[in-house]
Amino acid sequence: MIRTVANWKLNGSRTFCKQWFKDFITHFAGDLSSVAIAPPAIYIPLCKELSADEISICAQNLDSLHGAARTGEISLEMLQDLNCNLSIIGHSERRHLFGETSNIIRDKLLKAAKPDFTAIYCIGENLAEYEAKLSFEVISEQLNSELFSISKRINVFLAYEPIWAIGSGKLPSKNEIELMHLHIKDLLLQHKNINLLGIFYGGSVTEDNCIELSQSDAIDGFLVGGASLNGKSFAKIASSFA
Ligand code: PGA
Repeated sequence: MIRTVANWKLNGSRTFCKQWFKDFITHFAGDLSSVAIAPPAIYIPLCKELSADEISICAQNLDSLHGAARTGEISLEMLQDLNCNLSIIGHSERRHLFGETSNIIRDKLLKAAKPDFTAIYCIGENLAEYEAKLSFEVISEQLNSELFSISKRINVFLAYEPIWAIGSGKLPSKNEIELMHLHIKDLLLQHKNINLLGIFYGGSVTEDNCIELSQSDAIDGFLVGGASLNGKSFAKIASSFA
């Protein structure tokens, strides 16, 4: 079962990938099947080769269509053609930098709703919503208009990523994360179509805070951005769940 996912975002090169896997393998103490790496799509084949298929390789995004006039996009069919059966969907950077609306994300989730595919679906509130104590409402609304509006069975890891915590060094308290994860779990368990594989926390997870968070029964895993770029640091974070 996957517990820790590295999201490399727009970082990497062939040299980086090779060095990263060396550093990670040297320092990781655990089961390789508990780890997934999301490199830029162009490096998926190289990462598959370097991981010897023991670590899951994940896409950072997919398009809901295939065989269409959509320059620059990558389809689920193309990912599966590379034996990549896992993708992040709805990351806040896709929502805010690339204008992905709830409708677009719902279509992507619908596309990913296949027996042999798994989505890592990201949701989270912004700072103003957090400060106004609207986090629970915002998360419920996101789930209603995206995940709960699809009628097909979907395999999903839910990643709770408060937007204000991503790359900022600021985190909600452990208790706040736990309460939100329990809220999300309650909502998801009411939907028979959802095969919930785990609820991850994402946003400024580091070597320093991972141990405390990983000890919580409500946190099944992490989605890690910045701290995943160093193979040794990410190995330490992933080892906290080992
Ligand atoms: P961060 O990013 O770990 O750098 O905060 C998390 C994410 O964007 O998934």
